[in-house]
Amino acid sequence: MDKIVINGGVSLKGRVRVSGAKNSALPILASTILGGGECMISNVPRVVDVVTMGKLLGILGAKVTQEASRVVIKADVINSTQAPYELVKTMRASILVLGPLLARWGQATVSLPGGCAIGSRPVNMHLAGLTKLGAEVWVEHGYIHARAKRLTGAAIYCDVPTVTGTENLMMAASLAQGTTVIENAAKEPEIVDLADFLTKRGARIIGAGTDMITIEGVRELRGSDHEVIPDRIEAGTYLVAGAITRGSISVDRCRPDHLEPVIAKLRETGADIRVEKESVHLNAGASGRPDGVDIRTMPFPGFPTDMQAQMAALMAVARGTSIITETVFESRFMHVEELRRMGADIRVEGNRLMITGCERLTGAPVMASDLRASAGLILAGLAAEGTTEVLRVYHLDRGYEDIEDKLRGLGAVIDRRAA
Ligand code: EPZ
Repeated sequence: MDKIVINGGVSLKGRVRVSGAKNSALPILASTILGGGECMISNVPRVVDVVTMGKLLGILGAKVTQEASRVVIKADVINSTQAPYELVKTMRASILVLGPLLARWGQATVSLPGGCAIGSRPVNMHLAGLTKLGAEVWVEHGYIHARAKRLTGAAIYCDVPTVTGTENLMMAASLAQGTTVIENAAKEPEIVDLADFLTKRGARIIGAGTDMITIEGVRELRGSDHEVIPDRIEAGTYLVAGAITRGSISVDRCRPDHLEPVIAKLRETGADIRVEKESVHLNAGASGRPDGVDIRTMPFPGFPTDMQAQMAALMAVARGTSIITETVFESRFMHVEELRRMGADIRVEGNRLMITGCERLTGAPVMASDLRASAGLILAGLAAEGTTEVLRVYHLDRGYEDIEDKLRGLGAVIDRRAA
């Protein structure tokens, strides 16, 4: 297992380029199962979760070649419709093959994703929606079993706007007979990106990005090329890196329109932010310590839960107090105890963090626990006095491409060592 070692206190300066969005690449790769023909997906982030999805598609029988940020997939034939526990337990997003397998091949057996550090994360809405589309769905021995001769369009209401649930149902409905309407659908940019890719392949989808998506099923989908949108959470993470180190950085090749809640909150902390077409420039040097702000995570277009840990780190060194309310997951606070080891005055009250900012954090050995908590600890280490060692960085490698190289490129004193 590796660790990342940071000597904090350097104000970051310079430019960093954002990679493709992990949470867009994963459903897009899974959706290649829906049809034959070759799909060439570019701007795919080189992260572990993408490699895992590629392995899963290979196990199912697709021909997958991954080189640099390009993935070429041909799923004309497959020789298995089973996503095994050994692989699903390493990546919950494996659930995204359920809808496509069922829609294209009439059956699917996918291991139930287990528990997760950030919450129970049930998939009941995925299963209820597929049942609505006419599938027979049951759970046995830890596996989801689904089968259907051909899915039929239906009206589906999601109790909560589930991101991968919306994606699974949109993919399944794209080959169903008739029209499907998904109400209270998630509106994340990654859903729009998936819908754009499916539409290029012949799917008939309107309303992606709104809370009502209408899908008119077609007989088959063809192959297509696609460039994955930039990762808004990676972009936001680097903006917070600039803010927490009172630096001046530019985040390039991003989509500022996907970053509005993050930009708004960072401006509220006093950071000077300028937005261009594909770049965001942040200068936090002039304002000294950030001002404490209150944050409430919400489904898009609200403040993203995937940026909560990063903002908790920033608020830990802010002037005054702040309250961060996590409304999406029930226990996404694994970073809190580790931040306290670095001197943060932060306590959990139900689904809220009560934070009183301090002048400086102090470096310490800390333990990563999930992808975004790890990012929060890296950010805290960049600002802390002394050396911080973040252990179990395999969590980080799931969703951040070359993070230590990108941060070093901004002047951070950071490297990766065997733990
Ligand atoms: C996606 O997870 C993302 N993952 C997560 O990013 C992100 O945090 C989350 O959406 C929220 O934005 C991918 O896209 C691969 P949900 P997902 O279904 O789809 C409840 C990261 O760090 N729910 O939108 O699993 C659920 O418990 C990861 O990149 C049900 O109750 O999240 C949660 O409280 C972490 N039943 C809420 O809905 C269901 O059937 C939102 O979950 C489904 C979800």
